[in-house]
Amino acid sequence: MEYLVLITSSLFFLILVQYLFGLYARAKLPPGPIGLPFFGNLLQIGPKPHRSLAKLAEQYGPLITLQLGSVTNVVVSSSEVAREIFQKHDADFSGRSVPDAVAGGLQNHDVATPWISAGDQWRTLRKALSIYLTNPKKIDKLQELRLKVVSKMVEHVKEISKRGQDVDIGKLAFTTALNQMSNTCFSVDVADFSSNQDVNGFHHAVNTIMEVDGKMNFADYFPWVKKFDPQGIRKDAKAAYGWLDQLCEKFIVQRLRHREDNLPPHGDLLDSFLDFRQENPVDFDVKQIKVLLMDLFIAGTDTNSSTIEWAMTELMIHSDIMQKLRKEINERINVKAPLVEADILELPYLQSVLKETMRLHLVVPLLLPHKTETNVKLNGYTIPKDTRVIFNVWAIARDSDSWESPEKFAPERFLSSEIDYRGRYFSFLPFGSGRRMCPGIRLAERVMSLMLVSLVAHFDWKLPNNMLPEELDLDDTFGVTSQKAIPLVLEPAIIDY
Ligand code: HEM
Repeated sequence: MEYLVLITSSLFFLILVQYLFGLYARAKLPPGPIGLPFFGNLLQIGPKPHRSLAKLAEQYGPLITLQLGSVTNVVVSSSEVAREIFQKHDADFSGRSVPDAVAGGLQNHDVATPWISAGDQWRTLRKALSIYLTNPKKIDKLQELRLKVVSKMVEHVKEISKRGQDVDIGKLAFTTALNQMSNTCFSVDVADFSSNQDVNGFHHAVNTIMEVDGKMNFADYFPWVKKFDPQGIRKDAKAAYGWLDQLCEKFIVQRLRHREDNLPPHGDLLDSFLDFRQENPVDFDVKQIKVLLMDLFIAGTDTNSSTIEWAMTELMIHSDIMQKLRKEINERINVKAPLVEADILELPYLQSVLKETMRLHLVVPLLLPHKTETNVKLNGYTIPKDTRVIFNVWAIARDSDSWESPEKFAPERFLSSEIDYRGRYFSFLPFGSGRRMCPGIRLAERVMSLMLVSLVAHFDWKLPNNMLPEELDLDDTFGVTSQKAIPLVLEPAIIDY
């Protein structure tokens, strides 16, 4: 009995000390709600953190502190604070911490670009990526492959239409985005539009990874819990990463043989990585290439397809915008001839529709969490080294100080404005800003533009079962990426030219 009292009182004492220490440490940090001992503010973050953090920002301001278990977080919710950070303290805020799901999923193999801090290894990986992804000439080389993928998508939807069936737009866009990524990486289609088998494997793996990497994982907030994996997150992550690992391994082995046989190069990302490895054999090995490829599949598939599902949802609600977009496409593009990406990227209304979709439906609503690399003075506060920093770009893109009628879907707002998504306009950061900004923008804008032009130009879309546009549900889910909660299903009718 005495023993039990001793343990209980020691535990109570420890929690009290941690709590008091927390209060002291917070004195120089930005304001925020006082949390519970031990849990901190964890219980104030609901299943949709972008929304609950926006509510807390209304109460406590654009720069707040939240204690989540043992991890101190600072949340940024205004374009002014984001500007201050990205323009004046980018390097100090460029760290990352590896979520337990990623570390467990990859079994602590080299963790790739999105999750490592901005040190030498990250610089090498970003360089390997940027040789290809930021070079329009290299990206243009594979344009033919991307066009083939979208024309297969169009043919598939035509078949569905002839059979009088419906299309799950999210799944269709996912299969298309997946084949776009597999062609970019390996010059092959990995999924067949008419068979769900491969797609389901990928869909499951990518969705699981996005979900578990973004989930409130107790192991990230209470490190001593890691061993027990109480939510089963490590287990799920390991299975999903393992699935992708095997697939990427297969393609790398094939390509190494292809190169040994001196066969002609493909000019894709894998070739570019293997060339880079020859020049940097010490810093960049085949294992790193594999993890990098896995990360690209994860980063570049769901993001593109989810944006297209949201764009089509908004176009179904706003039929006038759909008509206007179709008119622009028909007037400026010959849709009977093969598409040319450079022409599509120049369509002002199409690009405005995509921007407005990304403003209202941020598929990465909190960016990936950053981490301070040193003690930083910001707006009169001191943010200690190793503080986790969350950018609520979802809230920033709906801030009425920056956007007129922010809840309204109005692509016109971008027609007469210079605002773009390349990290220079801090009220609109769907790809982030600064050194951790998404390196896939050039590819993403090509893939999304091709998909949307093809869906709008070739088909007239109707909601099934006489559903009215105003009945469409706009609820979203939360993970690393935010998805449409209820899939958009539409009936296609072929437009004959
Ligand atoms: C609509 C499409 C996409 C969106 C909205 C998007 C958005 C983002 C965002 C918000 C970040 C985190 C930025 C930060 O934390 O500051 C990110 C990181 C990243 N994205 Fe994308 N992305 C998209 C497509 C792609 C594509 C197609 C690729 C690859 C081909 C890609 C590769 C990456 C990588 C490697 C990172 C990690 C960068 C780093 O931490 O250094 N993304 N992306």
